[in-house]
Amino acid sequence: MDIKKVAVIGGGTMGNGIAHVFAMNRIPVNLIETKQEFADKAMATIDKNLERMVSKEKISAEDKVTTLDSINATLSIAEGVKDVDLIVEAVPENFDIKKSVWEAVEANAQDHAIFASNTSSISITKLAALTGRPEKFIGMHFFNPVPVMKLVEIVRGLETDDETYNVVEKTSKLLAKVPVPVNDFPGFVSNRVLMPMINEAIFCVHEGVATPENVDEVMKLGMAHPMGPLRLADFIGLDVCLDILNVLYEGFKDPKYRPAPLLVKMVDAGKLGNKTGEGFYNYK
Ligand code: 3HC
Repeated sequence: MDIKKVAVIGGGTMGNGIAHVFAMNRIPVNLIETKQEFADKAMATIDKNLERMVSKEKISAEDKVTTLDSINATLSIAEGVKDVDLIVEAVPENFDIKKSVWEAVEANAQDHAIFASNTSSISITKLAALTGRPEKFIGMHFFNPVPVMKLVEIVRGLETDDETYNVVEKTSKLLAKVPVPVNDFPGFVSNRVLMPMINEAIFCVHEGVATPENVDEVMKLGMAHPMGPLRLADFIGLDVCLDILNVLYEGFKDPKYRPAPLLVKMVDAGKLGNKTGEGFYNYK
């Protein structure tokens, strides 16, 4: 099966990037949001990121227009999923929100459509069980900023079949991404390895081992990371980091994943990183 058209549900940080890469690679997208202002914001972000690519001569001005023209923003899940071959869900990491989205998708999607979630932490097997087609359910885990990062972590749930995996792997390559298969366990591979590093960096700040700037400098200059772990935590969102650590902690029942108390305190204070203007760094 070839994927000729997709729906992306959610136009936030990840969703608008996912819509951007499908459309830029000539796969038309229905981008589904809950409110017109969110849909407008998602389209404005895609426009801005495409313009950045035009100014760096990575794509032409015509490519930008064609890409924007092939994204159709809609506020209706029923309308947005009815004529597509693949649905990629990128709504907030809240099981109840995802549950209601997948139930609406299930009621309106074509029988052959593949269901993919961009979840960074919720079990693919558990989401798949919400639908009547767990064998066609899979994780497509993209990385921020989606137009730049090469990886798609493809997460196989307990019942995902080979055909679904093969179609999603092929489609990821069409997006000029590198698909890497992993099985469904808490945090998959990416966040199981990344989040303990970020958490440990936060413990270093908490214990007064070094300032955030100096922790980041060590990891950037000593380990060639493009961003230090605390700058990256701000970029991902401290609330998202905390949620993922809690999923690891509860999923494995292993204290090595316990979230640093300083992380919990910062989230309680509403200091969530770039998106609120303050985290380990000030962005105001
Ligand atoms: N859209 C399109 N292009 C973009 C972009 C966007 N949103 N953001 C950046 N770019 C491009 C720039 O145009 C630039 O292109 P060039 O190399 O051709 O000049 C390139 O990306 C680098 O951007 P900048 O020069 O502005 O900035 P930096 O060199 O500092 O790079 C960065 C920025 C790419 C974000 C880099 O710092 C980086 O790779 N950071 C690590 C990001 C990371 O680890 N992401 C994963 C987070 S974990 C996650 O998402 C999973 C979840 O489950 C938690």
